[in-house]
Amino acid sequence: MKGRKRTAVLISGRGSNMRALIEAARSPDYPAEIALVLSNRAEAAGLAFAKEHGIATAVIDHKIYAGRGEFEKSMQVLLDLHKIEIICLAGFMRVLTQGFVQHWQGRLINIHPSLLPAYRGLDTHARALAEGAKIHGCSVHFVVPALDEGPIIAQAAVAVLDSDTPETLAARVLAQEHVIYPGALAALAGGLLTVIGNRVACERTAALPPALKVPDFPK
Ligand code: GRF
Repeated sequence: MKGRKRTAVLISGRGSNMRALIEAARSPDYPAEIALVLSNRAEAAGLAFAKEHGIATAVIDHKIYAGRGEFEKSMQVLLDLHKIEIICLAGFMRVLTQGFVQHWQGRLINIHPSLLPAYRGLDTHARALAEGAKIHGCSVHFVVPALDEGPIIAQAAVAVLDSDTPETLAARVLAQEHVIYPGALAALAGGLLTVIGNRVACERTAALPPALKVPDFPK
């Protein structure tokens, strides 16, 4: 496919979502190419996988900068150098400034391990269990200055089992993350999304990624 959108994936650790995006983008029909993997931590495990797949990687250690703005200026230089058009946050553990988020508005997306707007922030699985939730899941959303807010592109739900621990629940949610994130990036890169207020409409083409199809819930 021509004109694949040059995409950067920002990570801080394991990088399993990054891996799902890289694997999806190996298909020549996929509308995005992963052109850069950027980590704020040199020890992020995901970097090795990206390198093995011939993807440019970079580490920018936030700790050597006086503030968030300075750190982001360095990131922006690198993003410009690699002609990046879309950014996917995938377990990137830094809060971004309003200036950076506004610069990338509509081109910056994140995956969060809960059915937003429930359980913003950390420890989502333990919190869902503690509150006795029966359904839990994950969301891909456009990033806005407020943490874990922004128009939702895709969600997937899993049933909470009586036997669940935070770890078992996290594993089932993570498997769904790996489905919806590549789907959401494909829809964005393919120009299928329109944001109206806080809602995201997705053009229903034949080529719609399965993760973006309307689920068959009981009516
Ligand atoms: C995922 O659960 C993601 O939803 C959250 O951070 C975790 C990152 O995992 N934002 P990985 O690095 O993609 O494996």
